[in-house]
Amino acid sequence: MTSNRQWVLDHYPEGAATLDTWRMIDAPIPEPGPRQILVKTLWLSLDPYMRGRISPAKNYTAGVQPGGVMHGGGVGEVVASNHPDWKVGDIAESMNMNWQEYAVLSTEHVNRVPKEVPAQASLSWLGMPGLTAFIGLTEIGRPLPGDTVVISAASGAVGQVAGQIATLMGARAIAIAGDDEKIEHCRSIGFADGINYKKEPDLTAAVARVCPDGVDVFFDNTGGPIHDAVLANLAVRARVIICGRIAVIDKAPSEDIGLRSSARLIVTRATVQGLVIFDWWHRRPDALKHLAAWHREGKIQFKEDVLDGFERVPEAFLRMMSGQNQGKQLVKL
Ligand SMILES: NC(=O)c1ccc[n+]([C@@H]2O[C@H](COP(=O)([O-])OP(=O)(O)OC[C@H]3O[C@@H](n4cnc5c(N)ncnc54)[C@H](OP(=O)(O)O)[C@@H]3O)[C@@H](O)[C@H]2O)c1
Repeated sequence: MTSNRQWVLDHYPEGAATLDTWRMIDAPIPEPGPRQILVKTLWLSLDPYMRGRISPAKNYTAGVQPGGVMHGGGVGEVVASNHPDWKVGDIAESMNMNWQEYAVLSTEHVNRVPKEVPAQASLSWLGMPGLTAFIGLTEIGRPLPGDTVVISAASGAVGQVAGQIATLMGARAIAIAGDDEKIEHCRSIGFADGINYKKEPDLTAAVARVCPDGVDVFFDNTGGPIHDAVLANLAVRARVIICGRIAVIDKAPSEDIGLRSSARLIVTRATVQGLVIFDWWHRRPDALKHLAAWHREGKIQFKEDVLDGFERVPEAFLRMMSGQNQGKQLVKL
């Protein structure tokens, strides 16, 4: 192989991304520099935050410029190494694998993939999404036994793990998701109940029905109408984790201002806290140790949705953004 296929950003999308948001190019396979490794991509992770990286809007980190290789995390096999700690054949995970078949990586941003689990676990329950669920619940939501914890996008990468951790903490986890198969999956992994938000004509009433004592912890992965419906049902001293806003991320700010929830926040004395998982990276080793132990003990299960082939990476991203994924969206190369 001499060629390195890459997906580059063609233009910033207005509204939802489409297949022509990216184009594929052939580039030479790069050479690793001093203390760098060359990695052949085996798996790519498709995550909602990537939508923010293909926008000119200011964000918490720099985005991809048109013509640049699309950003993304992945797992790969080391095929050349100029670093004494890394040898050919090692399996590496990096948030900077990007949408390409080969990547040169500086090893300070690379994690070793544990041998005991499938390599792609490092992109899901044993990686960034699992860490997000762990920190959101143990540091911000802090449910007490018997509390009601509502989780949106509940059957996805973050949501599945969050629901199971809430259950392990003795809380009653409630799933909100967009189809019956997703709700069924959430029930099968321990959520106490669920709401298919696409079937409920009055979502606020549906949350009230399933959470008669109010919502003590809300793990908000979507923003938008689900956010409004749950905020209307907060219990006194509720904790709200603002993790994601996939429901409104394709919209201009003026298109969706939502309900004004300040009255409810005053009445309930609720705490609302935004989460950017990179602020908590120092907690990664400890969090992953807990997640690995729970998984070994059979307390955490996880569903993946895998498409095959590098050609299908943009399709996989659109599939995940539109909610067609059943579990963590991955592409296997
Ligand atoms: N703050 C952080 O540091 C951090 C870190 C990781 C992830 N996140 C956020 O966490 C959220 C979940 O990420 P993930 O990787 O676990 O993704 P995911 O849940 O595996 O996939 C995205 C899901 O979002 C839901 N969705 C799409 N459009 C929606 C809409 N209009 N209204 C409601 N739900 C919609 C879909 O599920 P349904 O069928 O249920 O609608 C879709 O399956 C995202 O918002 C992401 O940005 C934040």
